[in-house]
Amino acid sequence: MLILAIDTSCDDTSCAVLRDTHVLSNIISSQTSAHKEWGGVVPSIARREHELLIDPVIKKALQIAKVSMKDIDAIAVTYGPGLAIALGVGIAKAQELARTHSKPLIGVNHMEGHLLSVFVNNTHKLELPAMGLLVSGNHTEIIHIEKIGSYRILGEVLDDAIGEAFDKVARALGLGYPGGAALAKLAEQGNDKAYNFPVPLHGVKTLDFSYSGIKAAVMRVIKEKPALTQQDAADIAASFQRVAIQHIMDRIKRAFEQESPVMLLLGGGVAVNVLLRKELRKMCKKFNVKLLIPANKKLCMDNAAMIGVAAYYKAQRNEYAQSERDVDRQPGATIA
Ligand code: KG4
Ligand code: ZN
Repeated sequence: MLILAIDTSCDDTSCAVLRDTHVLSNIISSQTSAHKEWGGVVPSIARREHELLIDPVIKKALQIAKVSMKDIDAIAVTYGPGLAIALGVGIAKAQELARTHSKPLIGVNHMEGHLLSVFVNNTHKLELPAMGLLVSGNHTEIIHIEKIGSYRILGEVLDDAIGEAFDKVARALGLGYPGGAALAKLAEQGNDKAYNFPVPLHGVKTLDFSYSGIKAAVMRVIKEKPALTQQDAADIAASFQRVAIQHIMDRIKRAFEQESPVMLLLGGGVAVNVLLRKELRKMCKKFNVKLLIPANKKLCMDNAAMIGVAAYYKAQRNEYAQSERDVDRQPGATIA
């Protein structure tokens, strides 16, 4: 089946066309430059940008996929979680297209999209029991996967998400916004043992995450330095990254021991982090768990192809919206 998918959950306007789980086009128009000077995403600017970009992005997605609206079998759109007024732009457009072209609508949870992004352009089969690790700008979650479409949150973040912590530390080091990737790059030149930041919740028997303590400890070190040399910055970045990833590995090890999964699905923007991937590979090997990673970097970031693949599985289960109003924005939606 041909699916047209839309995601406007945060600061990227994205539209994709998929044939089942195979991507024909996946257009992402980033608004980073519009938000950069504010050091973060400004909701009203995001809405304005989505409104400007949505039509050209959809047009381009159809063009590249070499299909027209009449060929499309279903329209998928993110209903949440995300910024309410940003989500609203994508939902209104999806409803308008569904109405005008008499197509069925499918509402998709953005985090389910990240979780299932490993199945985009892949022939992997889900093996059970399976677990998901979602690491993004707003989420840090370990998910129990009962089957596709049926999930339970085993652990989640109590304060700042991992991506948010990367972004805040990066900003304090003068690396701009969003700085997660730049921080990871700088860390390559640093000594990761130069600073002994505390591993959050170390030894605490939970699968939850916390990044505000380590972030505060890093900020204190930065503030106390009279002048920050390039080497200082690299050492801080490397030491922070080591501990931030160590925290994930602590939780994953505990979750593996507790749940004995055979498969781990990795998703979200932080999934591109090289150290995280390296440590996860090691841990998965030790526990004999098959690790699935999105096929490319673009599929880790916010993108509509992952929404399309989640919609494909919903269509297989006949989970179409009953009416237009069935798809309503849910900024605080959870995956389970
Ligand atoms: O999934 P995503 O594109 O958007 C959200 O839904 O949040 O994730 C974006 C996050 C940002 O916080 C960004 O700094 C972080 O992913 N990120 C990284 C790396 N590349 C992007 N964090 C750590 N290491 C990276 N290489
Ligand atoms: Zn996301």
